[in-house]
Order: sequence, then C-alpha cells, then structure tokens
Amino acid sequence: MIQFDREHQVFKIDTPHTSYVMGVVSGKYLSHIYYGNYIKTCDMGYLLDLGTDFLQEASLDEGEKVTLLDRLPFEYSFAGIGDFRQSCLEVVSSEGQRGVELVYDSYEMISGKPELTGLPAAFGGGAETLKITLKDPALKLRVVLSYSVFADSDALMRSCQVINDGTEDVFLERVLSACLDLGEGDYETIALHGSWARERHMERQAAGYGTYLVESKRGISSHQSHPFLALVSPDCTQEHGEVYAMNFVYSGNFFASAEKNQFGAFRMAMGIHPDGFCWKLAAGESFQAPEAVIVYSDAGLDKMTHIFHDLYRDHLIRQQWVYKRRPVLINNWEATYFDFDHKKLLAIAKEAADNGIEMLVMDDGWFGKRDRDDSSLGDWTVNETKLGDSLESLVSQVNALGVKFGIWFEPEMISPDSSLYREHPDWALQIQGREGSQARNQYVLDFSRPDVVEYIYQSVAAVLRSANIEYIKWDMNRPLTDAASAYLTKEQQGEVFHRHVLAVYALQERLLAEFPGLLLENCTSGGGRFDPGMLYYSPQIWCSDDTDAIERLTIQEGTALLYPLSTIGAHVSDCPNHTVGRVTPFATRAAVAMAGTFGYELDITKISQEDRAQIAAQVKTYQENIDLIQQGDYYRIASYQKNKRYDCYEVVSKDRKKAVVVFVQVLAEANMHGHILRLKGLNPEGRYRINGKCFSGDALMQAGLLVKRPWGDFQAEVITLMEEE
Ligand code: DGJ
Repeated sequence: MIQFDREHQVFKIDTPHTSYVMGVVSGKYLSHIYYGNYIKTCDMGYLLDLGTDFLQEASLDEGEKVTLLDRLPFEYSFAGIGDFRQSCLEVVSSEGQRGVELVYDSYEMISGKPELTGLPAAFGGGAETLKITLKDPALKLRVVLSYSVFADSDALMRSCQVINDGTEDVFLERVLSACLDLGEGDYETIALHGSWARERHMERQAAGYGTYLVESKRGISSHQSHPFLALVSPDCTQEHGEVYAMNFVYSGNFFASAEKNQFGAFRMAMGIHPDGFCWKLAAGESFQAPEAVIVYSDAGLDKMTHIFHDLYRDHLIRQQWVYKRRPVLINNWEATYFDFDHKKLLAIAKEAADNGIEMLVMDDGWFGKRDRDDSSLGDWTVNETKLGDSLESLVSQVNALGVKFGIWFEPEMISPDSSLYREHPDWALQIQGREGSQARNQYVLDFSRPDVVEYIYQSVAAVLRSANIEYIKWDMNRPLTDAASAYLTKEQQGEVFHRHVLAVYALQERLLAEFPGLLLENCTSGGGRFDPGMLYYSPQIWCSDDTDAIERLTIQEGTALLYPLSTIGAHVSDCPNHTVGRVTPFATRAAVAMAGTFGYELDITKISQEDRAQIAAQVKTYQENIDLIQQGDYYRIASYQKNKRYDCYEVVSKDRKKAVVVFVQVLAEANMHGHILRLKGLNPEGRYRINGKCFSGDALMQAGLLVKRPWGDFQAEVITLMEEE
C-alpha cells in the first residue's frame, strides 16, 4: 500500500512486512525518513527535522544551504551545489557547467508497474507504483523517481527517468538508480567478489568511514564483482540481525557504494557506473535508468535470500519457465572442446538417451572454420564439412533418439580472422588510429550500430529457423575495451557501454518473440554476467566454467544468496577436473550439481563404466526432486567457505511436506564426531521420514540431524525428508 500524508508531506510505501518512508523538507527537498519493519502510522514527519536540526529553527535557511545539503538524508542525491557525499545525478549543461539541484514538484500513484522501456524489470500482478517528480528549474530538467511494490513481496523496486524539458542539450555524467540514506549505525558490508572460474565468493567486512565501492567497468556485470551490496548489523547471521540489500537489474558497468559520512550516517547507492558514461540528452529526450531491487530483512540472510528468490521466480523470470521442468542436458564442451563431428555428437546423444538425459547441447566450434578459439566469430554459418552433415539432419537424428537439441552462439563478438571482419572492419569497437585490444583472439562488435545488430539477429535467427533447435547457450567471452564507435558522434562516445547492454537486451527480446518456446541460457565465460538483468531473458545462466564439485560449493553458495537454484547452471563433469585437476567421486559431483539446473558436461561414451552406470539413477533422483529444487525455500545450513570443513544446504517445499538436504564433507578428518545439522523451515509439529526412520520436525530443527562422519575425502550425502500424513 502507498500513502501520502498531505499535512505532514510524508509518503509511506508498505510491503507486507516493511515500510519505506520519505517526506518533503520545507516544501523543497525529498528526504528519506525510514526503512525497516512495518509501521502502521504515517505520522513520521517529525523525523524530517533530522537534517535541519542544526539550524536555529527547523526551517530551510539559505545562508546555510551547503551545510544543510551535506547532511540531509536524500532520496535522490545530486551533485555540485552542496552535498559532497556520493551523488545519484551529475549533469553538465550545454555551457559545460556542472551542478544540479532537485526540488520536489509532484507525485502520482499508479496501480500496476509500468515497464521500463528497453530494460529488464520486475513485472506482474498486484503491483502499485509511486512516481515522484523532482525538477531543476535552471536546467529545465525533470527527474521522475519510481517506487514499486508487489502485494506478495517484501522487495522494493526503484528506478528513475531524467527528462530534458529545455531547449538545449545537457550531458548526464552520472545517473544512478537509487540511493538509500540509512542514518547513523554500526554496519558491515557483504559483497560478492571473484574472478574467472571463481565467481561470487562472499566477502564480509566492517564498514568504516569513507566509501566502500563495488563496481564493474568491464562492460559486463563481471566475474570480479557483482551488482549486489548489503549493509548488515554486526550481529547478522543466517537467521538473525538486520540486512539492507541492493541488487541491480542490469548487466553492464555498475557502481554500488556504501558510504559512512562525517556524522557516522550511511548512504548506499547503486546504478550505472559513471566512469566511461556520458549520455547526451537532447531537448525533449528522456533517459531511463535501470531498476534496483531493495530488500530489508530483520531476520538475517536466509530471510533476505527468500525475498530475492521469491521475487525473481514470481516477478522476473519468464513465467512459462518458472514451474516448467527444465531438461537435463548434456553439453559437449568439456567432452570434445572443438574436436567433434556429427558421429561423435550422435554417439553422445545415443548414450545420453539411454541414461535418461533429455537434451544435447552442441557447444562452440560448429560454424565458419572454427577449430580453435581464434577465428570465425560473426560467421554464423554451419560448417557442414566439419560436422559431416547438415544441421537439420543432425538435429533430426538427435530428436529421433528422443533427445532435444540446443546450440551455442557468441553473438556479441567478431574474430579478426572472419569473413565478417574482412568485409566490415569498422563493425568492431575500436579507437580511431589505435589497433584494437584483442582478448581470446577476438574483438567486440559495435552494438551501437543498428546494421550490426540487425545482421547478428538475422544470422542467429536463420540458424534457429533451419532446424528444431529448442535451446541456445548465449556466450560472451571477453570484456569490452576500446569502447569507441565509428557510428556515434563525438559527443556520444560515452554512450557505447550502455548502448551495448541495451542492444543485447533488445536482441534477446526479439529472439524470444520470434521463438517463444526457446530456452535461453546466458553464459559469459562461465558466470561473468550472472545478474537479474540477464535472468529476465534467460531463466538459467551458466554459473561458472569451474565445474569442480568442491570449488562449486563456494561459487554456488554465493550465487544462491540471491538467485533461485532453478537459475543456476550446474553440470557433472569428468575427472581429473579440467580446471583444477581434482578428483572427486562421481556421486559427489552429481550431488553438487543438484543445486542447480543439473546436467552433464563430459564424454559419456568414454567415462568409466562405473561412473556411467550411476547416471540414470542420478537423473531420476534429480527429476524426483526437481519441483522442490526449482520452487522450494533454500536454507544455508553450513558453509564450507566459512568453516573450511563441510558444506550443507537444504531446500524445503513451500507446504513444508518435503525437503532435501545436501551435505558435502570436504577433507576427511581422523577421530572426529559425526556432524549435527540443525535443519530449518520444517513443520515443528510434523514428523519426517528419513531413510525409513521417523523424526520430529521440532527435534530436527532444534537438536539437529546427525550425519555420520563419511569415510574419505569429498563425500556427499543427499538426504530426503517426507512429512508423514
Ligand atoms: C566459455 C563458456 O563458459 C564455456 O562453457 C564454453 O561454452 C566456451 N566458452 C566455448 O568457447
């Protein structure tokens, strides 16, 4: 529910368990008042005095304007005239002068949630939106802040639009999507950091004075950083303590900050990274900033996780996929790399079919003359000589085995050694007079150019139209550099990064419109663009190129902090593991891959008979639990990243009748007790059957479940719980 108390000039936005409150100070500035547990009354206008109480009278004194602006808790901060903290908006006028002042103008309450043109955003029924208009009369600029909530969620969605009502161009050098002024307190930050094959490791640290920044300037949300930041109370655990979290529905350069100022008060901010960004806003034009999702939890990280998971399942992922059983697939990348033909693929498909696997994905190497990673990106024509068959014929033969077919693309790239590059060297991003920087032997296409985007769409669509292809793995294997476009004007070069992201979104949207049944799995050298923006288009994302079961424990823990297991691409691969060389039991690899979309990435025709013999049963176990895994509540029970010994998560069905617990012991330890795992989310009154024995829900949650110490390193146990009728 959204309310406006006209007398006190206070807005209050309620979700089922939280309230978000702001008000207008002295009829001028929109100031933040409160965010936290639900409060019934709207009467919090007295808190607006917080920023003005240093004045003799609690009113706006022009003689102390700078002092005032630098201490007011703002809803949307602006730069250049007095607030020296992180600003949301920085504008340069047509005269080259910077400085903006946003003054409250009006509001509008809307039933529903308007789309954000060209951008992914949460959607669905039961929404309400508050739009607040702020204006800068000198620049003739309008900023419309948007706040949306759903009746069934405790998340708050924020974004904003900047409109140039003047007659001169202005230049937006920073347009963040939201800031959150929390007031003074003692907090710690939680962020997800990493690298290629080491994505989304959780990091927690005390938040001191100054600005803690989480950012990507790589043109993608990145392996190194994640568009997520939380401030938590020092006592915060999985079950207790306060969390203020922000997650950005965007897939490019981002900026997320937590700043402790001179008064010990905190400001969080999130948006498109201002570095490398400058958007020319011509008279009459508007700029839409992406959406930030804000979550408050008074009961630790588990509660925050549940709010994000439910929001993304119910309001972000394409609804046709949320409750649909995704196919268990086998991907030929780690099986063959570039060395395959139709016979090899058919042999894999045949063996896969015999073991219950439902889809074959043909990875990199089927097009142009690509036998290594140094050619042909952009030449999206099937290499029939290499395949030894046409695509249509190959797909029909795979389908005849009862197996679906999926294919790999890397649409945003161009190889210097490609017909496309020889014909259109100006289609790559490059700085005039400078040789472009290659990564993985490739350049990035200039997606600011409509002709490039059209060419790529037609190339990809032609392949999809030519055969019964039901899945795409959309890969992206290098960051953006040399971000200059021969197509854009001098003044628009700061738009390249954002235009790239917009074009990727538009391409994926268009593909899904033409091929509505297509299952899209995004991938960026593993999990370099695993973010809510991409999730809007693809219900699952390849989580990491590291398929080692032990490394994956930490990667998947960090990923599942925000994203439902149904979105996490996870496969069983061969050993020694191709990334770290570790040897783990086949059963453990399957147990770990169950915390995701589950599939295989190995040469099923070559692995040992002993391993192969386990596949049919593994697929069956996954399929028996798939509804639970895709739709249940996820709980972190133990973290290998923290305890360095063992890992455990649990998923409980929404009706609490069924649960699955996955326990992994990393290194075996001599002469130790078994582990007692305190389960969560069960019915305390219920009785649960585990391996033929019965336990009370109460005891399992309070006293815990005893897992006997396994024999050997890297051992896993998958424990299912069924409530007795
Ligand atoms: C990177 C991906 O993450 C891998 O799974 C694989 O598809 C390769 N690219 C192919 O080049």
